[in-house]
Amino acid sequence: MTALWDDGKAFVKNKEAFIRMKRSVYAVAVLAAAVFAAAAASRAGVGPNQEMQSLLDGYQAEARKADPGFKGFSAEEGKAFFNSKRLHSVRKEERSCTVCHTADPKRMGKTTVGKPIEPMAASVNKERFTDPKKVEKWFKRNCEWVLERECTPKEKGNYIHYMLSL
Ligand code: HEC
Repeated sequence: MTALWDDGKAFVKNKEAFIRMKRSVYAVAVLAAAVFAAAAASRAGVGPNQEMQSLLDGYQAEARKADPGFKGFSAEEGKAFFNSKRLHSVRKEERSCTVCHTADPKRMGKTTVGKPIEPMAASVNKERFTDPKKVEKWFKRNCEWVLERECTPKEKGNYIHYMLSL
């Protein structure tokens, strides 16, 4: 009963179905790749390099020595520390890390004389927290400026964890 013409039509239909199937397989693959990329991108934070890891290990050992109950660094505490304001005993002005780095570490900051400072969040600025010497140098300066003392190993570790978590 099937005419040649019908066969031809069936062939065309099958071909169309095949093309549609190929398209949907492609679409699924693209979707899967997008989902995978999004999952990778949303994985919070950046890991420290080897040099920074040993600096952090050092802070951790010191923090534990100072407080045997120390439970590890906390990005939350680092955030609170970064945002806390303190009255300078001589200058009688409120100071905090945010004065120069702003309350959003993903943004540019500026010094008190208006010189731009690159963002502090490691996800935005890949050079941050890669060089222990630089980190220690600026902790020393900035902690003195804000707190009139050096930061404790615990404060430093919490702060770095916060900056790596953003
Ligand atoms: C008076 C301005 C100012 C304040 C306040 C300030 N900083 Fe900074 N900070 C700077 C400048 C300037 C740099 C160096 C320039 C740069 O690295 O872009 C810097 C760099 C740093 C770095 C080096 C990071 C790296 O790996 O590159 C650390 C760590 C740091 N600051 C921590 C702090 C902490 C913690 C506080 C608060 C206790 C603070 N800063 C407050 C100006 C400031």
